[in-house]
Amino acid sequence: MAKRCRTAILISGSGTNLQAFIDAVQDRDLGLDLSIVFSNDPNAFGLERAEKANIATACIQHADYTDRALFDQAVIAELDRFEPDLLVLAGFMRILSAEFIAHYRGRILNIHPALLPLYRGLNTHQRALDAGDKWHGSTVHFVTEKLDSGPRILQGRLAVVPGESAQKLALRVQAVEHKIYPQAAAWVGSGKVQYRDGRSWIDGEQAAEPVIQTY
Ligand code: GRF
Repeated sequence: MAKRCRTAILISGSGTNLQAFIDAVQDRDLGLDLSIVFSNDPNAFGLERAEKANIATACIQHADYTDRALFDQAVIAELDRFEPDLLVLAGFMRILSAEFIAHYRGRILNIHPALLPLYRGLNTHQRALDAGDKWHGSTVHFVTEKLDSGPRILQGRLAVVPGESAQKLALRVQAVEHKIYPQAAAWVGSGKVQYRDGRSWIDGEQAAEPVIQTY
């Protein structure tokens, strides 16, 4: 039997992407075991979602630490008790230190609500609308020290409807995220997608472009 991928999901908020993982692994075998849900905010609704699904939870508040390095060390110590193979950032609103990223090199995923390299940072939906883009969507990528810039794995894209609001577009993109994020994580968990030499490798080939799915 292939080794199962022990997965930690890091959240700060509502956790709709976390819920998508919970639903996906209940629905079909992705080879992922959801080992721990971690939050830096004790009020994150995602913790309730995890408890309801009988997943272990942990919370360390960044406000209790004067220093980012000390906070990150505490998070590493907590996560490593669960021996994760993969870390999934799902609305985790802390910038991770270089030490943290090095500790889990090539094993941290993020999802960003834009077709990277377009629109790193915030307000991605409004920026795509303002630019008159034909396509918008979301990108799953490996996390590196450069924010929203790590090697891309999978993009889900949809056609922008002329005149739609940023809120409506955000909801449509969110629905796409819920499909592509568990899928991309499963690919990494199974070894179909790997991080090597600062690049994504897909099916053994260095991938300059992510896989693109149109919704
Ligand atoms: C998503 O929009 C994702 O793209 C961004 O954070 C948001 C998380 O939302 N990185 P949720 O907490 O999973 O609903």
